Amino acid sequence: MRAKIIAVTNQKGGCGKTNIAVNLAGTMVRRGHKVKLIDADPQGTATIWVNNADPDSPIQIEVNGLGRVAGSVTKEIKKYVDDYDVIIVDCPPAADSPVPQSMMLVSDLALIPIIPNPGDLWAAQDILELASRCSESNDALNVRLVASIVRANLALTKAALEQMASMREGMPLMKARINQRAAYAEAMISGDSVHILGSSAKAAIEEFENLTNDVSLVLGLKKGRK
Ligand SMILES: Nc1ncnc2c1ncn2[C@@H]1O[C@H](COP(=O)(O)OP(=O)(O)OP(=O)(O)O)[C@@H](O)[C@H]1O
Ligand SMILES: [Mg+2]
Repeated sequence: MRAKIIAVTNQKGGCGKTNIAVNLAGTMVRRGHKVKLIDADPQGTATIWVNNADPDSPIQIEVNGLGRVAGSVTKEIKKYVDDYDVIIVDCPPAADSPVPQSMMLVSDLALIPIIPNPGDLWAAQDILELASRCSESNDALNVRLVASIVRANLALTKAALEQMASMREGMPLMKARINQRAAYAEAMISGDSVHILGSSAKAAIEEFENLTNDVSLVLGLKKGRK
């Protein structure tokens, strides 16, 4: 079966794209899916993250760093579609990068992380507009917003989450949300998803299990689902 392609994208920097791409990859690998993570950001954060992995760990996330050949990301992806179940692409934040658009034209799912605060909601308009235009040419594209780096105890978070739920028709907010947690920073230096941290990261693990359930439902991925 052709791999399902997931683009994690938002032109806004620092909204948790790489965090979501790597943790989603680690969760899906643990569910038995054959996953290729593509780091399409020249900053190479996902590549550095995954390269920190213990080579003896039974769980290995496969990452390809393509940030410096941005123009040909979609061509690169074609090499993997027949051999993988899922391809997850961590897109760069640059507003003038061609990658978000070219990826959304070939993806099955665009995951758009947004921090629920007023500034980040305003800044998301451009990517939602781009996603909307890409949906017109790519019938397979599902677009979902993900509440990322959520500061659950802030009063304005609730209002922002409500706004996100109805930001744009056809682009619902995923039920699972990713709160702001120290475990995510710890996972980066561990080279793996938060699962590697064990019981100390229980809440973060639960968040990614939930997000992976939501993603699997959208894409019709059954294998290994809890
Ligand atoms: N849920 C979270 N809780 C706490 N810290 C987080 C969370 N998600 C991301 N971070 C931290 O916030 C910073 C930015 O996250 P990340 O690199 O995932 O964002 P990004 O959108 O990929 O950034 P860029 O646009 O630069 O590629 C990192 O230091 C990361 O560790
Ligand atoms: Mg990033």
